[in-house]
Amino acid sequence: MSTITIALSKGRIFEETLPLLAAAGIVPLEDPETSRKLIIPTNQDNVRVVIVRASDVPTYVQYGAADLGVAGKDVLFEHGGAGLYQPLDLNIAKCRMMVAVPAGFDYDNAVRQGARLKVATKYLKVAREHFAAKGVHVDLIKLYGSMELAPLAGLADAIVDLVSSGGTLKANNLVAVEEIMAISSRLVVNQAALKLKREALEPILAAIAGAVKE
Ligand code: PRP
Repeated sequence: MSTITIALSKGRIFEETLPLLAAAGIVPLEDPETSRKLIIPTNQDNVRVVIVRASDVPTYVQYGAADLGVAGKDVLFEHGGAGLYQPLDLNIAKCRMMVAVPAGFDYDNAVRQGARLKVATKYLKVAREHFAAKGVHVDLIKLYGSMELAPLAGLADAIVDLVSSGGTLKANNLVAVEEIMAISSRLVVNQAALKLKREALEPILAAIAGAVKE
């Protein structure tokens, strides 16, 4: 039986993928929240889970270092999807990609006036395409986290970030002014593995597909 490596990130994606893996009879033997191990064995001898940064999941799967993985649409959009088969929206880790500004900043008016906006984000491609499609002039500032701080500290006029409960925006006196896209996580599969390990992979993919909730 071929060895199957599944790339997951810690947190919501790991937790919300667990029931889908369970449907395929796969149970990781350790929890990445408490274990420092990056390779986690499962109850199946030929299946293991590797724990990587969310934005690195597509890269591991693209190069075949993992056969399959779970990645958010935000991450997949930035990666571009080369070498990845994306058969399934898993309907998990749902949130929204939004433009947000400090409360009191008249975003619509600034856009109408043709203002040039400084926008801080981790999602350069998403932001570039969004503002280009709207004809809004922006200077994009790449950040790696805590985007909400940028307008408060005077680094940017607006941010493009993920919003889930809205709690982080609220706590920092920011408001969402535009939705760019709805986000959920997708299953990604290495295209070569799909052919070479078909026998081992197909039942896993079918069981996961059967367990996806609408
Ligand atoms: C995400 C996102 C927001 C926050 C939104 O950050 O970047 O900061 O969650 O969630 P909320 O609407 O429920 O408050 P995360 O905690 O994943 O950390 P990150 O900055 O590393 O992306």
